Order: sequence, then structure tokens, then C-alpha cells
Amino acid sequence: MASPRGEFTSRFGFVMAAAGSAVGLGNIWGFPTQAASNGGAAFLLVYLALAFSLAYPALMAELILGRHAHANAVNALRLISPAGLLRRLGVTTGVVGLIVASLILSFYAIVAGWMIAFCLAALASLVGMESLAQWLTSFGFARNVSFMLLFMVLTISIISEGVRAGIERWSERLMPAMLITLVALVGYVLTLDGASDGLKVYLLPDFERALSPKLIIAALGAAFFSLSLGVGTMLIYGSYISDRENLPLLGGMVTLVDISIAVLAGFLVLPAMYVAHHNGVQIFTETGTLISEDTLIFTVLPELFSTMGIAGVVVSFTFFFLMSIAALTSSISMLEVPVAYTIEEHGVSRKKAVWVIGGIIAATSTVILLNFAELFGLVIAFTTRYSQPLLGFMFCIYAGWIFNRNTLLQELRKGNPDVEQGLFWKIWPWYVRLVCPLIILAIFAQTLLG
Ligand code: PFF
Repeated sequence: MASPRGEFTSRFGFVMAAAGSAVGLGNIWGFPTQAASNGGAAFLLVYLALAFSLAYPALMAELILGRHAHANAVNALRLISPAGLLRRLGVTTGVVGLIVASLILSFYAIVAGWMIAFCLAALASLVGMESLAQWLTSFGFARNVSFMLLFMVLTISIISEGVRAGIERWSERLMPAMLITLVALVGYVLTLDGASDGLKVYLLPDFERALSPKLIIAALGAAFFSLSLGVGTMLIYGSYISDRENLPLLGGMVTLVDISIAVLAGFLVLPAMYVAHHNGVQIFTETGTLISEDTLIFTVLPELFSTMGIAGVVVSFTFFFLMSIAALTSSISMLEVPVAYTIEEHGVSRKKAVWVIGGIIAATSTVILLNFAELFGLVIAFTTRYSQPLLGFMFCIYAGWIFNRNTLLQELRKGNPDVEQGLFWKIWPWYVRLVCPLIILAIFAQTLLG
């Protein structure tokens, strides 16, 4: 019998949805631009090491808690904790997670709105509407609010359809479209003059920088953000997985897709930067360092496209279309966190919950836009640098220490009768208990000290 709270209908559906959440602006914009300014392949290696050794086990903690409880993060942590302080702390962790997910969406929707505007600007210049194209690419309040709202309405429309007809169906469509677009763009950019210089920077590691604390902190933040960890997104997606599925395998697939797309996006963005350099666009500052990450996407790449004539307009459209789709499959997962909680905890209908919460988040985005210089960077730092690692730490503690050990192991056996023969069974239960929390704390301490 179908569960009344909704369930993914297939393994493919879940992997597309969870990978859709994971793959977003963080992969296609964040990862390549951070790699470019942090020693290229050195960053890539640290990122890969952290993704497999830390982010994957932390992802498994969320998936297991979610699948066990078949409920949102607040209820899941409440269910597994003994009454008293630990239960209250668990509930608080879940609530903070849903606030952080909403705050992430409030800045994400602004950036995603820019992506849609740049995508439409390419269309406008294709049909000769240059002044419209200029408005679409200029940083004005009216443009910013309009496209943030458009993006929020798209996100709300998908989430109001529920798990199967909304999240699963749209992820199954959008993710393959995104992958094809990305591969086509990489193929094209690699044929252009100057691309090989970008490949060299991306693939030759500067080991001196690989071990610098700044780089490790940046890579940890990138890995957590990229796998959508610490805010209950993966926990809620885990809660929609059937008990027949093999969780370590599904989590592994999601991690692999996420990392592969980040690495693939590096083959697009770094070569594109050096093609731009080759075409006379400035990519270094006066002191010889690379220009900032946002300048790269919104200035360097558009300038590059404009040196390429009509092909540039098509490539520009395709690139920003890709960014918009990637952002949408992530934003739906963020909105689902507070929505699922409100439906399950307060008995509100999905439609009502989606519109009210979506409205509050859009209002928050508007406040950020009105105080852009003060709030934008602050909200990003608060959510991604501090909250995500700390909440990820709490999820590992609850999975590793508070969750009854036998029940946890029982959960691992579901859908996977041979699990006890595998490496995962031997390593993960200890890993999530000791190694993950200690590494997260060590890196977090560095963040505070640095
Ligand atoms: N993983 C997304 C990205 O890489 O862009 C961002 C994200 C999605 C963060 C969902 C947090 C979240 F809950």
C-alpha cells in the first residue's frame, strides 16, 4: 500500500531527486571557481578526499535517520531520543535545521533569479532587444526582486505537487536535461583556443596549497554545501525511501553523481576562464590573483560570450539555462524541509504550507535584497560556514550515539540482507560515531580561529 505521506516510486526517481538536490549552483559555480582560486587540482584532491571520507558518511547518517522514522528531521530526532534534555536538544536541532534550510533558500533564490535573467538576456539579444537584455543583466532592485519571485513561484509550484508528481517527476526530467547540457558545453569549450591553459591549472596540483587550513576549510564547506548536508534535506528525502531499498548503495550513487558533476563542471568553467583570458578579457586582479567568484560568472563569462558572436549568444543561453535547472532541483529540496515539517507537525494541507512558507522565504529574500551589502554575505556565511557543519555534527552524534545501536544496525539490514559481509558494515557505525564528529569539530575550530 502506498504510504499516505508519499514515497519515491523507483530507485532512479530517488537518485535523481537526491542528486538533484545535491547538484546545484554549488557544483557548477562554487566548486570550479573555488578550485580556480585555491590551487586547482590541489583543491580537487582535498575536496574528493573530504567528500568520500566525511560527506558520504554524514549523508548516510541523515538518510538512515530519515528512513527509520519516515518523518521530518524534528520528529525523527524526537523519536530516537530518550525523554529529557537529549530529546529537547534533538528537536531544537531539527528546528534550527529547517530555519537554516529556509535561509539558504532565501539567498539561493536571489542568485538563481540572476541565472534566469541572464538566460533570458541571451534570448533578448538574439532577437535584437538590446535594451531589455541590458536591463536583465544590470544589478537593479526591480530586476532582482522580479526574478527571485519568478524562481520562488517555480519552486513552490513543483513542491505543491508533492513527492511523486512534484519532486520525483520533475527531478527525473530536469536532471538528464542538465547533464546533457553540461556535457555539450564542456565539449564545445574544450575546442576553443586557450582552453588547455585552464585544463593545466585544473589538473596540475599545487601541493603547497593543498594542506593549507584555509583550503581545507573551504573544501569542507564546499563538500557539505554540495551534498546538501546538515539541514535535514537529505533526511527528509531519506524518509521517502522504501524499506526495500539498499541505503548505503543509494547514498553512494548520490555522492558519486554529485562529485562527478562538480568535477565535470570544472572542465567547463576553468577552461572557459582561460579562453576568456586568451580573448583579452581580464581574469586576474592587479596583484595577479584571480578575480572574485561572482565577477567570474557574471562578468568574465558574459564578456567571453560577447566576443564569440552569435555562437556566444547560444552558449550564453545554454550556460545560464543549465544553472537555472541545477538551481531549481536544489531549491525544491530546501523548501520541502520546512513544508514537510509543517504538514506533519501541524496538520496543514500541502498547498497551504507551500504557499505560506514560500511567501515567508520570498519576503526574507526581499529584505536581503533591500540590505544587500549588509545581509547577503552574512546570511551565506552564517548558513554555510557555521550552521551546516555544526548541524551535520549533531546529526552524526544522534545517529552514532543516541540512536539505539541495534535499531540502527537493523535499519542497515533492510533491503540489504548481505550488508554484514561488506566494508560499510565494518567501518561506518564507528566512523559516524567518532571520526566524523572529530574531523568536523577540528575543521570547525580552525574556522573560528582563522
Ligand atoms: N547542494 C546544493 C548546491 O550544491 O548548490 C545546495 C543546497 C541544497 C544546500 C539543499 C542545502 C540544501 F539543503
